[in-house]
Amino acid sequence: MKVRKAVIPAAGLGTRMLPATKTVPKEMLPMVDKPVIQYIIEEAVEAGIEDILIVTNRAKSAMDDYFDYYPELETRLNQAGKDRELHEVRRAADLANIFYVRQKETKGLGHAIWRAKRFVGDEPFAVLLGDDVMRAKKPVIGQLIEAAEKYEASAVGVQHVATEAISKYCSLKVEPLEERIFRTTDMVEKPRPEQIFSNYAILGRYVLSSAIFDILEDLEPGYGGEIQLTDGLKKLCQKEKMVAVDFEGHRYDTGNLRGFLEATIDFAMEHPETGAWLKEFVRAKAKTL
Ligand code: G1P
Repeated sequence: MKVRKAVIPAAGLGTRMLPATKTVPKEMLPMVDKPVIQYIIEEAVEAGIEDILIVTNRAKSAMDDYFDYYPELETRLNQAGKDRELHEVRRAADLANIFYVRQKETKGLGHAIWRAKRFVGDEPFAVLLGDDVMRAKKPVIGQLIEAAEKYEASAVGVQHVATEAISKYCSLKVEPLEERIFRTTDMVEKPRPEQIFSNYAILGRYVLSSAIFDILEDLEPGYGGEIQLTDGLKKLCQKEKMVAVDFEGHRYDTGNLRGFLEATIDFAMEHPETGAWLKEFVRAKAKTL
């Protein structure tokens, strides 16, 4: 079982990051020197993914433009001897085979994933949520692919979440299989306190069997009146094997201001151009607080 394809749902309205996201898609906001979505695509590519489908909407055409060539700009950079910039601009466009489909109505994450049915066909595929940026030694989606291959199962990426926070996510029923890997047989989206199975919640990464599409097609709206991916996964894990991987790495929710700032600061501290300077700046600033 080789996972070659990934789907990135990126059709949300970005209401948690207004007013910036009124005209700039939240996935295109710059984090240090790259848009958020590039971090996600790079993670997929590093894990061996070749074809990527981005599920967009009518306000997101800046994404297609970003991953395209831009001959006038490239010629100008070339003439000016700006080799590093030229290399980076080209590299973004050559990262992967990127495809797009629009989610014509905002009907939820499950509905966005269902739009990938034709692209995926009959093979296992990865899902990387457009807001969830990971900082990890080994790509998080690669950790899931490994587990999915080993157990011949679907795999979801989980972490232990505080009880006060779990109602923002989902909660999984889990039984240990080995260190950091569980079997999962039930789950609930945005649980109320009495519905919590465990403190393990899915955080933005999935490797799914194509059987999810038929399930999503018939799914009734769930939490918030939307077609929820978690409701589809609940059915999938009762029909086929699914494992939950307690992945190694830090997850940032870049769809909200705090998560976006945390990620920006952490990535800037590691960036060769800004790292040393930013650490010095923060140290000096801290003294004045
Ligand atoms: C989505 C999923 C939820 C998951 C969360 C974090 O929720 O529906 O199951 O835990 O992402 O990846 P949302 O953030 O869209 O409310």
